[in-house]
Amino acid sequence: MIVTIDGPAGAGKSTAARGLADHLGYRFLDTGAMYRAITLAGMRQQIDWQDSEALVRIAAGADLTLPDDQVFLNGEDVTQAIRTFEVTSLTHYAADNQTVRQLLVDLQQEIAAHTDTVTEGRDQATVVFPHAECKIYLTASDEVRAQRRYEDLLSRGEKVTFDEVLSKQKQRDLRDLKREIGGLRKAEDSIELSTDGLTTEQVIQQLVQIVRGRVTDKNQV
Ligand code: DC
Repeated sequence: MIVTIDGPAGAGKSTAARGLADHLGYRFLDTGAMYRAITLAGMRQQIDWQDSEALVRIAAGADLTLPDDQVFLNGEDVTQAIRTFEVTSLTHYAADNQTVRQLLVDLQQEIAAHTDTVTEGRDQATVVFPHAECKIYLTASDEVRAQRRYEDLLSRGEKVTFDEVLSKQKQRDLRDLKREIGGLRKAEDSIELSTDGLTTEQVIQQLVQIVRGRVTDKNQV
């Protein structure tokens, strides 16, 4: 079974998806981490970001694996390195590149082909797994999302202000929404949940209820 969780940056998708996957005994797939890893590879090779072919070459040649919620790029553990403010700011080049997207979509489908999976991203319900059994769209207000990202970056030792994070988040939201293929969209059959005012535990409990409800519905059909 595949459970998709899509939504904007900072809605709490990763933590919730991870918790839900643990609860269900499913694999967790963080697809944003893939776009970040390709971006990190591009940064290290100091590519010209306007050269879309250079990024495609990097993505096509990258050995990207995500075992146990870690991210390995060409054998190196980059789980932490892909979370910096700089990577976050540059990731739109990978996300906007249609050939890179197709390579990563293929990899996502391959990873989830034989394993029950909770997958998290922007286009999981609409593009990558349109036939997923359970689709969830997670949201939260702009300020709550920016506050989460801000605290996360501070805890990683980054020097940023809340206003910087909020303004970058608005830019990213716009880019995610405007992206023609693979952009952020709620699928018609997704169930929406706002995480405002909910603890992580409460979000996970609600997700578990949604998944159970879906499984029961399907069994009755
Ligand atoms: O969820 P995140 O912040 O780790 O995602 C990093 C970037 O990758 C974000 O700008 C949107 C993009 N992304 C995407 O285009 N498609 C996905 N399935 C996941 C992330």
